[in-house]
Amino acid sequence: MTSQTFPKNFIWGAATSAYQIEGAWNEDGKGRSIWDTFSHTPGKVANHEHGDIANDHYHLFKDDVNLMADLGLKAYRFSTAWTRILPEGTGKVNKKGLDFYDRLVDELLKRKIEPYICLFHWDLPQVLQDKGGWRNRETAYAFAEYAGLVSGRLTDRVKYWFTHNEPWVAAILGYFTGEHAPGLKNPAAGIEALHHLLLSHGLALEAIRAETKKPVKIGITLNLYPIYPATESKKDREAASRMDMILNRSVLDPLFKGTTPVREIPIGKILSRSLIQSGDLEKIKHLDILGVNYYCRTVAKNDSKVPIIGASQVFPEGNEYSGMWEIFPHGIYEILMRIWNDYTPSCDIMITENGIPVPDGLDFDGRVRDERRIRYIHDHLAQVRQAIRDGVPVKGYFHWSLMDNFEWAFGYGPRFGLVYVDYKTQKRTIKDSGRWFRQVIKKNGIED
Ligand code: GCO
Repeated sequence: MTSQTFPKNFIWGAATSAYQIEGAWNEDGKGRSIWDTFSHTPGKVANHEHGDIANDHYHLFKDDVNLMADLGLKAYRFSTAWTRILPEGTGKVNKKGLDFYDRLVDELLKRKIEPYICLFHWDLPQVLQDKGGWRNRETAYAFAEYAGLVSGRLTDRVKYWFTHNEPWVAAILGYFTGEHAPGLKNPAAGIEALHHLLLSHGLALEAIRAETKKPVKIGITLNLYPIYPATESKKDREAASRMDMILNRSVLDPLFKGTTPVREIPIGKILSRSLIQSGDLEKIKHLDILGVNYYCRTVAKNDSKVPIIGASQVFPEGNEYSGMWEIFPHGIYEILMRIWNDYTPSCDIMITENGIPVPDGLDFDGRVRDERRIRYIHDHLAQVRQAIRDGVPVKGYFHWSLMDNFEWAFGYGPRFGLVYVDYKTQKRTIKDSGRWFRQVIKKNGIED
């Protein structure tokens, strides 16, 4: 066996998000978010599940930080809940909400775990949704207010910030396909929401910089996919390129090139309502860290029934699948190389999410033998290592997720954690993958 060592100071971490783990949905002055509303709307989430209690992390955060230390994590990426801090979306600050994140940050630093804060992981205040949510340009300014507030309190200790997690998902699944909160099914709304989310990234970045006395790095996290045509036919190849436009270029072009492929889509109406105002693209085009979330590739075929892009996804037979997606480790290499070659980013690049839902559970002796997860992480890390060898300076890898949690519309079914959670007792058990990942961190690498 040979070992594949990662660069010195490589950042090994794990990630979570507020709504997926915190619970305490109405405690200490927290306002209602669109996910509180959505998950209590019948038919939206599997088995009527919701995040009211989730992992009860709001109360158990010290135990969870202990677990992170036990795993040897160097960094932890989590999100702050806008509704804890500004229950009304803007205006009156809820001190208790800020205090919670203050305590969490202190606990992390005490255990030498670097906090990476993400300001928005989809839990928009319901009061802002009532005014149009991300379709409303004002929401972008409200987000900047919130970003300034959180960073004003924490930049003395927190060096790494992300404005958004997967703005594409928030916009397209939230407003276009309706699978996520707020559950709209309106293609034009999806495009509007996406633009305002990106604009809010730029505005928030300015707000954070204005609050900062110390140097900080500010980034954004994107879900990105290498795209393959279903067949070599001209139609499918063109469909793949349209799929690439909507999935990847719609976020990468504004962030790196100051242009937008949205202008290539014939929804003239939106543009005539002057969605993209002068100066917007200039504001968006700033970042210090690109976070890449990689789960799977997308195979696309021509499909005229799908609005805007005329393409849909196919799932090749005979390949290995997890509970949600195809397993395709080489894709993480491909997407890293593509970003590097097409966009030549001068910012830091890191993997901010990568993980797998497999049916794992407690074995007879109380252990969780999640061998498929170990293989999945190993195979993806080998590809990340190769991308580094081929010139992409990847700075870190955050596994999704630290622990099993609320998987949005799927409820608690899919388990993504390095740590198993018994939701009835809130008992946490480190899975075999967690022990294995601890060795990876210790050795700063994997065996072949
Ligand atoms: C995302 C989100 C996470 C999910 C994870 C698995 O990337 O979609 O950041 O909240 O839980 O990705 O779907």
